[in-house]
Amino acid sequence: MDSLVFFILALCSLSSTSFIESSKIQNGFTIDLIHRDSPKSPFYNPSLTHLDLIRNAYLRSNSRLNKLSISLLSNDEKNESPESIILPNNGDYLMRIFIGTPPIEKLVIVDTGSDLTWVQCAPCVNCFTQDTPFYDRTKSSTFSNVSCDTQSCTLLPKKQQFCGKFNECLYSYHYGDKSYTIGQLGVDSISFGSNSVVQGVNDNVNNISFPKSIFGCGYYNVFTADNSVRTAGLVGLGAGPLSLVSQLGDSIGHKFSYCLVSFTSNSSSKLKFGNEAIISGDGVVSTPLIIKPSEPTFYYLNLEGISVGQKTIQTGQTNGNMIIDSGTTLTYLEQSFFDDFVTSVKEVIGLEEREDTPSPFHYCFTYHPDVGFPYIVLHFTGANLSLEPKNMLLLYENNLVCLAVVPSNIQGISILGNVAQVDFQVEYDLEGKKLSFVPSNCAKN
Ligand SMILES: *[C@@H]1O[C@H](CO)[C@@H](O)[C@H](O)[C@H]1NC(C)=O
Ligand SMILES: *[C@@H]1O[C@H](CO)[C@@H](O)[C@H](O)[C@H]1NC(C)=O
Ligand SMILES: *[C@@H]1O[C@H](CO)[C@@H](O)[C@H](O)[C@H]1NC(C)=O
Ligand SMILES: *[C@@H]1O[C@H](CO)[C@@H](O)[C@H](O)[C@H]1NC(C)=O
Repeated sequence: MDSLVFFILALCSLSSTSFIESSKIQNGFTIDLIHRDSPKSPFYNPSLTHLDLIRNAYLRSNSRLNKLSISLLSNDEKNESPESIILPNNGDYLMRIFIGTPPIEKLVIVDTGSDLTWVQCAPCVNCFTQDTPFYDRTKSSTFSNVSCDTQSCTLLPKKQQFCGKFNECLYSYHYGDKSYTIGQLGVDSISFGSNSVVQGVNDNVNNISFPKSIFGCGYYNVFTADNSVRTAGLVGLGAGPLSLVSQLGDSIGHKFSYCLVSFTSNSSSKLKFGNEAIISGDGVVSTPLIIKPSEPTFYYLNLEGISVGQKTIQTGQTNGNMIIDSGTTLTYLEQSFFDDFVTSVKEVIGLEEREDTPSPFHYCFTYHPDVGFPYIVLHFTGANLSLEPKNMLLLYENNLVCLAVVPSNIQGISILGNVAQVDFQVEYDLEGKKLSFVPSNCAKN
């Protein structure tokens, strides 16, 4: 078994082809993304008010940022073999995957901020509660081990890879907040119940199947924060070599896109791969996608400045200063830049900050219909992104409106969160190294 896996994997080159055997998917495919708090989510709690949900969302956002900052800091400080960190429990969006033969459905977190796709596995030594049975490799006829001498095993960061007594490839991912997952790298079929009609993939037009996907079979999994969502694992859409996107590679033309609806919407957000992911037409703007060798998971953009009404604040940066992430709720701006930004926003709105501004917000004001919110344009290299009030503001409480932009505690790094991306189609082209945006009604498209 192992030697066959080795053989198949050895045939695949790393960056330009897909690992996963599948016929080229002509038209791409589309998957529903479920916001964890939306009416479509199995974790939907109708007793929570809109305001409860917003509070929960920003708490998650902050916990995620703390983990991100720990990960980035530790990389700078100890330069030897950085631990790459996944942010497992804070993703706001979920999707369904089917794994193994016969296929078992799993609801997992979708994460553009991490690479390895993993699920909790039986026999579980230490797992967190989930609503469905654990994946059991002995019950899947298509599971195979990955042995230590395969290329896919060496794609794990060195410090996170070790070898078991059957020469099986083991992984260990530790997160900044003491969460972790430890298990075995495996290969099995992962399929998606797609909403698209696809030809030439298999008989079932709604079933897109990737028979040789590499994933983590986690036997020790701990999430220290927020256990309210009992997902079965995570799908990594980061830029690193083990992520689902990198594994699908050529078969999806190295492209995916998403269109996010606000979490109070009854419609689903969409995640698209391949040709379906390509956005075009009036209003499309594109900016270079920067992948840093030191931190290959994250998608960086270069934010040159922000206009608030008539005024433009420059960052003076050219080298990738903003991470775009689908799993972070709020937008975080580098501290010094944030101060100028918030001052400009206050000037235009002309209302004082409310004394009861709740943490972590830095500017909340009393809503009334006459308040004008300034035009805000993010100036990325080659792309101006005009944001609407819904991308910048959250209603926190009756009449208390807060700016969904807060200071970042990571030196020199800002994060574009998912509130700012609502109602845009966002296309990631990993081969062309560009990121494109177009305004869109995501509930309809
Ligand atoms: C895969 O690895 C497990 C140990 O995790 C071992 O028990 C099993 O025999 C291996 N299976 C194959 C097919 O090598
Ligand atoms: C998808 O198709 C593959 C190949 O035909 C099949 O093995 C798998 O069971 C199907 N998955 C689902 C969820 O129907
Ligand atoms: C969403 O669905 C809920 C319950 O199904 C309903 O009460 C609500 O009015 C819907 N909201 C919108 C915006 O359609
Ligand atoms: C973006 O906006 C600025 C200021 O309005 C303008 O000077 C620049 O040419 C625009 N860039 C693009 C790519 O449209």
